Amino acid sequence: MTLDLEKTVVETAYARWAPIYDAVCGPVMVMGRRAAAEAARAVGGKILEVGVGTGLSFDDYDASTEITGIDMSEPMLEKARTKMASGRYPWVKNVMQMDAHQMTFPDATFDCVVAQFVITLVANPEQVLSECVRVVKPGGKIILVNHLYSEIGVAAAVERWAAKRTRKLGLRPEFPFARLQAWAQSNDKATLVERRKVAPFGIYTLVCFQRTEAALVA
Ligand SMILES: C[S@@+](CC[C@H](N)C(=O)[O-])C[C@H]1O[C@@H](n2cnc3c(N)ncnc32)[C@H](O)[C@@H]1O
Repeated sequence: MTLDLEKTVVETAYARWAPIYDAVCGPVMVMGRRAAAEAARAVGGKILEVGVGTGLSFDDYDASTEITGIDMSEPMLEKARTKMASGRYPWVKNVMQMDAHQMTFPDATFDCVVAQFVITLVANPEQVLSECVRVVKPGGKIILVNHLYSEIGVAAAVERWAAKRTRKLGLRPEFPFARLQAWAQSNDKATLVERRKVAPFGIYTLVCFQRTEAALVA
């Protein structure tokens, strides 16, 4: 397996992506985003979007939700703030610059945490997942959507070939599902509750964890 991406590489990459991100990544990833937001809307309430980027997902929520977004890339957030200023997204309460490895929110702040196309490119995915569990309420959901490593066949070979070549672009096509599963198995704070391919082509996978309910004290 290749190394995780370094924070500085990701920061540089997304500063470059910001001006063209919506045009390039908007249509390509729209079905993944919609699937994740639909699952989050089913939970409702206070939703944290980790790695909110330029706010492309704002269209996928509604007034039944209250969205907070974080991202470490200020150039990406500037685009999100411009969308907020349009007045079209009153359900988006705030977006702020913050590293997902060390969030400043108190424990159990959100009903649901969503990370769309983020977990494969953070410097320490397990630490970010543990932070997501910390800030979601007991019983709350953590919903990820991403392209994950295909494991076998031609697609897997292409992804291994592309792995080193796309790092500087802040992309990571060879990240395996097994790593997310291993994280869930290694802690008692979250359970893997769903893993499904997203229609129509199954390029993206939606993965959902649920924070374990706090034990009742007799
Ligand atoms: C591929 S973009 C996805 C953006 C958005 N979720 C979407 O679906 O369009 C990945 C985003 O994650 C952000 N990101 C990467 N590592 C991060 C970290 N450690 N903390 C916060 N945001 C991070 C990047 O700056 C970038 O905006």
